[in-house]
Amino acid sequence: MPGLQQLRCRECGRHYPAEALYVCDFCFGPLEVVYDYDEIAKLDLKTRIENGPHSIWRYSDLLPVEGTSQVDLGAGYTPLVRAERLGAELGLKDLWIKNDTLNPTGSFKDRVVSVALSKARQLGFKVAACASTGNLANSVAAHAAHAGMRAVVFIPKDLESGKILGTAVFGADVVAIDGNYDDVNRLCSELTSEHPSWAFVNVNIRTYYAEGSKTLAFEVAEQLGWKAPDHVVVPIASGSQLTKVHKGFQELAKVGLLPEGTSVKISGAQATGCSPVATAFLDKTDYIRPVKPKTIAKSLAIGNPADGWYALDVVQKSGGSIDAVTDQEIVDAIVLLAQTEGIFAETAGGVTIGTLAKLASKGLIDPNEKVVAFVTGHGLKTLEAISGSVGVAATIAPTLESFAEKMGDRIEE
Ligand SMILES: Cc1ncc(COP(=O)(O)O)c(C=O)c1O
Ligand SMILES: [Zn+2]
Repeated sequence: MPGLQQLRCRECGRHYPAEALYVCDFCFGPLEVVYDYDEIAKLDLKTRIENGPHSIWRYSDLLPVEGTSQVDLGAGYTPLVRAERLGAELGLKDLWIKNDTLNPTGSFKDRVVSVALSKARQLGFKVAACASTGNLANSVAAHAAHAGMRAVVFIPKDLESGKILGTAVFGADVVAIDGNYDDVNRLCSELTSEHPSWAFVNVNIRTYYAEGSKTLAFEVAEQLGWKAPDHVVVPIASGSQLTKVHKGFQELAKVGLLPEGTSVKISGAQATGCSPVATAFLDKTDYIRPVKPKTIAKSLAIGNPADGWYALDVVQKSGGSIDAVTDQEIVDAIVLLAQTEGIFAETAGGVTIGTLAKLASKGLIDPNEKVVAFVTGHGLKTLEAISGSVGVAATIAPTLESFAEKMGDRIEE
């Protein structure tokens, strides 16, 4: 493998071999994958990518999985849509939507899970597990089925039915916990010690899993003709995706696919009912105070985000902002995106578009910037959120008279 990887502690910088490790033995800091960028830069990367598969695996030189035995349901290669009508509503002249609703299980989690399970299989794990707010559960269950692995997924018991059934259908053992995501996550950390032979994708395999989110940045740059946008807006739950989107743009500059010194403003989006990172940003403090989530954006309901501090740091250093929107603003944003662009997002997408609107109205996004908003999950998974807001125009008898009576004032040539 040209860009031979190692793991490095994000706190003290110690190096480790690329094995099933996730915390530093010395300082308990989280580990991350580092590559030999000088070796990777020597490859004809652009050609290798452009001749690669139509999935995240076209960027395999910058992903931590050797060989070609990937667990691949076709994650990634999603459309980057020029959003002229939404842009006009928000006063943004060069707005784009990265439509990650169109992944195999309908969310960006397919990117991280495809990487995590490929690595897990390579490391010899037979069981895939996760702590999930819903989308990760869908994706782990589907990829495990495809790979012939057993899946055990842990979720808070109050998730949307689309998320629960959309996981169980793949044959996973779905364990619903009487508690919130932070309780689920704590239990999974304990279970990781009890069952070291299980690959908990966002616990003991997290180092590899997180790398999958870089492909969002890679795709956006490639789709813009190997140019970086000025500004991106990313939803925050644990904060992992946001930090890796940043890492993705930086890596492209390191290997020569973007100009040296490229900088992209990264802004974050949360729901006010679970906004520990937005609150720290707005209060201008580095301390992220854990909260008890209460929001319809259940996929983002992590009250004690593992990568919260790192996300905050990335946003501050890049010159972006973080803000939060109410449940009503989330629903309004889902409907606005659907009705201006024909893209149906789940609540996390409502958080992103609602926050985008808020940042634009506060003048924190320049109207002339090239902005990409990451819409990361499909609306069919969270129908509950909009069921009181949109519906049939009229219920009529199957006659012309009834149609004219109930819809007369809506009939135009
Ligand atoms: C649809 C969707 N978008 C964004 C996120 C945020 O991901 P992260 O935990 O990496 O911040 C999640 C997390 O579950 C999600 O389900
Ligand atoms: Zn360390």
